[in-house]
Amino acid sequence: MHQPHAERRKRLLAQIGDGVALLSTAPVAVRNADNHYPYRADSHFLYLTGFEEPEAVLLLDGRSGHSVLFCRDRNPEMEIWDGFRYGPDGAKEMFGFDESYPLSEMAERVPDLLADRSQLWWPLGHDEAFDRRVNRWLDAVRGRSRAGARPPAHYGDLRALLDEMRMVKDEAEIALLRRAGEISAAGHVQAMRTARPGMREYQLEAELLHVFVGHGARQPAYESIVAAGANACTLHYVANNARINDGELLLIDAGCEYRGYAGDITRTFPANGRFSGPQRDVYEIVLAAQQAGIDAVKPGAVWHAPSDAALEVLAQGMVDLGLLAGSADGVIESGAYRQFYMHGIGHLIGLDVHDVGQRKHDGQWRRYQPGMCTTIEPGLYIRPAPGVPEAFHGIGVRIEDNVLVTADGNEVYTAAAPKTVAGIEALMRGE
Ligand code: GLY
Ligand code: MN
Ligand code: MN
Repeated sequence: MHQPHAERRKRLLAQIGDGVALLSTAPVAVRNADNHYPYRADSHFLYLTGFEEPEAVLLLDGRSGHSVLFCRDRNPEMEIWDGFRYGPDGAKEMFGFDESYPLSEMAERVPDLLADRSQLWWPLGHDEAFDRRVNRWLDAVRGRSRAGARPPAHYGDLRALLDEMRMVKDEAEIALLRRAGEISAAGHVQAMRTARPGMREYQLEAELLHVFVGHGARQPAYESIVAAGANACTLHYVANNARINDGELLLIDAGCEYRGYAGDITRTFPANGRFSGPQRDVYEIVLAAQQAGIDAVKPGAVWHAPSDAALEVLAQGMVDLGLLAGSADGVIESGAYRQFYMHGIGHLIGLDVHDVGQRKHDGQWRRYQPGMCTTIEPGLYIRPAPGVPEAFHGIGVRIEDNVLVTADGNEVYTAAAPKTVAGIEALMRGE
């Protein structure tokens, strides 16, 4: 199971010559007093190691080709309180490192390894505390200059290399993303089955979390949005405490994190199980836009193709509904569509819900490649305003799926959560 991590380390090592790469995992975050947030390792660190204990540091040695882990020692007394630790020997065996040492040996060993290398890679400027540690190690090398040791002359941003690698998922990652998608979809199905007017939004949040945790996905990938009625027009609504009224739509944007990998699904459905006429009119436009966006995700397609395809459908819909005057091209040209659709079409997804990777490379738009995973999530959010037909006031619809680029097109691996009007209404009738 840990071969994919070793294989990723090898691919990274192949890019750093005789240099050294240093990467620390994420710090523990205090929530309040002596309580901590559930610990989440750094995503790059997880990608390269699978090792989830805090405080660890990975060193990749380009000269020996070795992966070296520094981690907490075993500590029988602390383990009584806080649970099992691998310790250096256990971690080395379990996670396939070539060498491993206790944290207490870093101050001695790291400067040795940094001496007389051409280049040092680390996530430059990402974490001040780690930057300071790297500086101290470099100072220690400089302190040995009379013995002839020299610090690296060149520094590189390790994140740039890792961002690039993580844009294209390997098979192990795709399997975990599919599972995160399945569990997330099951949560949405459960929310649709349970929703009734009169409930509170947080009661549906509880249904989602119940399904996630019950499948071993202990955390959501981001704060769940459960928005009834006009709350759906607040894009990052997370209060989740309003009463759900008869006749309202529910917009739920929620996904689990499964073994580090994010799901990110949005569904919008009627609280009472039946779309009203105006709700359906808006919904069908967003659904058609989403389908147009998904159809545009394929190998070789330019990055903005899904966005362009979805926007055309949305803009035509805004004109058809009487939300905007003029033509579809006109409202795109003028930017008037932004009154009702003010976010992007989606984002890469992986270990981070908004995953790493730049949409341009060397100044050129990227093109989709097999193994990339992206969300496609158009929406329409109709706040009351002069000239906006009242029938649509307070309707907010977003539909979001997670899409894997395959060799000949794409795979929507979150499709188990229904999204056609007929499919949603049938599920909510208990069929
Ligand atoms: N749930 C965050 C997003 O859809 O991007
Ligand atoms: Mn989302
Ligand atoms: Mn998203």
